[in-house]
Amino acid sequence: MIGKYRFGKGDIAANIRDSYGFDGDLLDIFVNNTGPVVHKWHHYIPLYDRYFGAFRGTGFKFLEIGVAKGGSMQIWRKFFGDKATIFGIDIDPACAQFDGKAGQVRIGSQDDPAFLKAVVEEMGGVDAVLDDGSHHMDHVHKTLEILFPMLSAPGVYMIEDMHTAYWPDYGGGPEAAGNFFRTATGLMHDMHHWYHAAAPHHPATKGWVGGLHVHDSVVVLDKQDVARPVHSSVGAR
Ligand SMILES: C[S@@+](CC[C@H](N)C(=O)[O-])C[C@H]1O[C@@H](n2cnc3c(N)ncnc32)[C@H](O)[C@@H]1O
Repeated sequence: MIGKYRFGKGDIAANIRDSYGFDGDLLDIFVNNTGPVVHKWHHYIPLYDRYFGAFRGTGFKFLEIGVAKGGSMQIWRKFFGDKATIFGIDIDPACAQFDGKAGQVRIGSQDDPAFLKAVVEEMGGVDAVLDDGSHHMDHVHKTLEILFPMLSAPGVYMIEDMHTAYWPDYGGGPEAAGNFFRTATGLMHDMHHWYHAAAPHHPATKGWVGGLHVHDSVVVLDKQDVARPVHSSVGAR
């Protein structure tokens, strides 16, 4: 299915620059990677910079779900710097070999509440989450339900590869009940709860989603303690 979108052997940096007008450090870090393999859709690079860039150089706490070959963790270390706490989790015990390299790696499932709680406790909290795990609808939903309440406010929660929301093998489908974009629509309705009386779709996030961003295959939730909206009139006449 995604094979037809493979970029091939062209100039990756030029493609990202030309297609998305992005030429930041993360582009250099990505294209010059000589360490463990990392595989990313080109349009994700500017999105990472946009949503995670403000954390660079700070002592923030970042949790990535899905370690695989360890490639992304070392990219994050280069991008975020030495002060950041970087944890990765994966269900594959082989990923333990990357523990202590670019960050800490813990082995367990993204849908296991006790495991996630223990990891976040060990991290001392979490300011940003990137879900690049199984991409299965059941897991994506469950992980959001468990981790979003533990996320700092302000905080950022990003889920990638959500083209799987359209694939039955991942519990998705254009009209499937589990399609994550239905959830995103529910979150949008919840964000506007001030203006209607419908019951919340997702009580775990209600009152804490300050912004919801949907890009091709990427969904980002801005967590914040959302203030009741007010309005004013100003001006002399
Ligand atoms: C797309 S790869 C991660 C790629 C990595 N973030 C990178 O960019 O280099 C997905 C990973 O999620 C892991 N995974 C699959 N199911 C999982 C689960 N239930 N809990 C945690 N990790 C899971 C897989 O073992 C695999 O290593």
